[in-house]
Amino acid sequence: MALEELIVRPIRKNDLPALHEIVNMLEVAELLGPIPPMTYEKFEKWHGRFIEEPEQIALVAEVEKRVVGLVTLSIEEEIYRYDSWLSIYVHKSFWHKGVGTQLMKAVIDVARDIGLRRISLGVFAGNKTAIGMYKKIGFKAEGCSKYGIYTFGRYMDTILMGLLLDEDLPSEA
Ligand SMILES: CC(C)(COP(=O)(O)OP(=O)(O)OC[C@H]1O[C@@H](n2cnc3c(N)ncnc32)[C@H](O)[C@@H]1OP(=O)(O)O)[C@@H](O)C(=O)NCCC(=O)NCCS
Repeated sequence: MALEELIVRPIRKNDLPALHEIVNMLEVAELLGPIPPMTYEKFEKWHGRFIEEPEQIALVAEVEKRVVGLVTLSIEEEIYRYDSWLSIYVHKSFWHKGVGTQLMKAVIDVARDIGLRRISLGVFAGNKTAIGMYKKIGFKAEGCSKYGIYTFGRYMDTILMGLLLDEDLPSEA
């Protein structure tokens, strides 16, 4: 796959079956958390808000009309003013080809365009690829939630990371 073949665009409802298949891949699920198989109903509940609520952001990566990845930004403006929570996954056959990086760059552009000040995320401490990708893009580790998640029969440490989009923001704004 050449990166020129990659299209990044907003999610559509008919992308959901392809995305459902990706989250149910064992290699993807182990890094995301939910143990497969996840029912389509549960998956639709999880992802439906990105289609139904216009303020939420979700971009898919498409290669030759096939959906191969997703990045979402959840925005809860009421309390977390100008913050957002990022989630990303890519079909395992398309890992290490730059798809994740392209999704990240596109969603950061959208975040800046709509005036967000932060992007936050949580990543399992052992997820070297994702942590490497986030750091390369500019995310910084901000803390660790020890044994915060129990999945696949073990407790997982979660590294909390953040990207400040406006470095001039005073710390107690
Ligand atoms: C994390 C994830 C989204 C990364 O997606 P990806 O498309 O593989 O990411 P990229 O290819 O852009 O970059 C990841 C790695 O590939 C390398 N890479 C980038 N372009 C490349 C290319 N053209 N050829 C080979 N490697 C490349 C990057 O340098 C990086 O390598 P590193 O691990 O040595 O630092 C993907 O691995 C995934 O879906 N994992 C499961 C779910 C998950 O972990 N989500 C994040 C939870 S917080």
